[in-house]
Amino acid sequence: MYESIAVVGATGAVGTIILELLEKRNFPFKTIKFLASKRSAGKTLMFKGKPYTVEATVPDAFVGVQLAIASTPDETARDLLPEAVKRGTLCIDESGYWRMDRDVPLVIPEVNAAAIQSALKGIISSPNCSTTQLVVAVKPLHDYGKVKRIVVSTYQAVSGAGLPGTRDLESGIKAMAEGKVYSCECFPYPIVGNCIPQIGSLKEKGYTSEELKLLYETRKILGDDSIRVCPTAVRVPVANCHSESILVETEKKITAEKACELFKSMPGVVVQDNVSQKKYPLPHLCTGKDEVFVGRIREDLSCDNGLAFWCVSDNLRKGAATNAVQIAEYLQKN
Ligand code: A2P
Repeated sequence: MYESIAVVGATGAVGTIILELLEKRNFPFKTIKFLASKRSAGKTLMFKGKPYTVEATVPDAFVGVQLAIASTPDETARDLLPEAVKRGTLCIDESGYWRMDRDVPLVIPEVNAAAIQSALKGIISSPNCSTTQLVVAVKPLHDYGKVKRIVVSTYQAVSGAGLPGTRDLESGIKAMAEGKVYSCECFPYPIVGNCIPQIGSLKEKGYTSEELKLLYETRKILGDDSIRVCPTAVRVPVANCHSESILVETEKKITAEKACELFKSMPGVVVQDNVSQKKYPLPHLCTGKDEVFVGRIREDLSCDNGLAFWCVSDNLRKGAATNAVQIAEYLQKN
């Protein structure tokens, strides 16, 4: 059992769920501390019915902490996690900063837990939310038929942009109902009644940073740089849960029936696939759940070994907090 653990970014959207999961899943430890920015120092957080005072994340806050689960902005992770490691803390990081570092494993426990061994920097990264659900769903298909190519279009919820994203949706709906104009806080355009085909900044070849995460993180987690990915990331007016339309092309043919069987054998995947009964994953119903949901499983009409499906998961849970806590549980058990 860990003597002492810390949640860094405990006041944030993901941090709040990390707390909830540590409590609900009864993660074992002797002492716990909650860290956030200086702005939150002194605030009180309730955990297991007891009040805890939030501390500022200064380097010495990690003295005596064996394990930290961090969900902060990239720059905070960049600056503070090496300080934590210097003080003997093993860090699980939700930010994007360390993910592609060669000495930092990028881990989804049910996919590549063994990679944890290579945490040479004392940091283990948890993938981007849209990558996690993609890779969890694709993993059993890859093991069976070797995935050569993925075409993925995301329909990403506003909660993925943090609380300002949620405010843009909620205030936008209210303003629309009242016939008022709402000036956006987070997105470049009103999100209500809209789909915005840009998430993140423009990077190489016309792709955005969010889209390239779907390429590079997928390759790193699956340990296969030959996989080709064509990603399109779109922000949609959905409160929570990312949806993805996924097409995989495999070396060996996978029938829809076989795919269904493979998905069912994958830990953490739930199949909801019966169109005649209007049964398929919906963000509305997947919110608050820890699994990755798949449905609309069908063989591609445009290429021989193609398989298309729809995939939904709670971006704040399996896409973030749940995965980080599952890494902590894996460390605890192993
Ligand atoms: P705070 O609430 O004090 O700003 P979210 O992703 O929901 O925006 O949450 C980000 C989390 O990261 C929050 O807990 C936030 O704390 C924390 N955070 C932001 N900046 C820093 C920083 N410089 N040092 C430590 N924690 C930070």
